[in-house]
Amino acid sequence: MSVLDVIARRVSCRAYRPDPIPQGDIERLLDAARLAPSACNKQPWRLAVAREAATRARIVREGFLPGLRMDWALDAPVHVVLGIERALATHRLAVLFSGVDYPWLDIGIAGEHLVLAAEELGIGSCWIGWIAPRPLARLIGWPRAVRPVAVITLGYPRDPGAASPPAGRRKALAEIVRWL
Ligand SMILES: Cc1cc2nc3c(=O)[nH]c(=O)nc-3n(C[C@H](O)[C@H](O)[C@H](O)COP(=O)(O)O)c2cc1C
Repeated sequence: MSVLDVIARRVSCRAYRPDPIPQGDIERLLDAARLAPSACNKQPWRLAVAREAATRARIVREGFLPGLRMDWALDAPVHVVLGIERALATHRLAVLFSGVDYPWLDIGIAGEHLVLAAEELGIGSCWIGWIAPRPLARLIGWPRAVRPVAVITLGYPRDPGAASPPAGRRKALAEIVRWL
């Protein structure tokens, strides 16, 4: 499958089979995140991987904000929490000049590397941004300098092909592109 095929097929998965993901495949996904580009190659990402059911349940119960029904995440056999290491003075200075928050960009790129690699291996995923960063950081045991920014659920889809591909659910190029 080409990268373009993978991008065209990927959809958020919110119904998982309980089958575990082989450890080697989890590590391939983490490595895809590790290889992402980042501003000044600072690599501000930190990753926490939860495989135990009890830990995943705590992530859902304590680490998600209320208001959205996200109990489906309990069934995903792996949760990856993405965090930003913000100790770097260069990050704080750079945003003052450009207004661009580079670490947040970097985390998005790394997370999507992971998600696209998962798609290639037939593993479903869903980004979850509706999180409570502080309880999540405490649960993981991250130091204060590391702030959780998202959780990515991973697992084999219960109904592969059930969701319509993203192309039909996106704005047209004419709406979002200005040709110069
Ligand atoms: C940064 C980010 C945060 C998201 N947060 C949530 C979330 O908290 N809960 C959820 O169910 N889906 C979440 N999603 C998934 C989006 O709802 C989904 O990507 C979007 O509706 C497009 O659908 P698709 O991924 O199937 O193409 C998030 C996606 C992104 C990229």
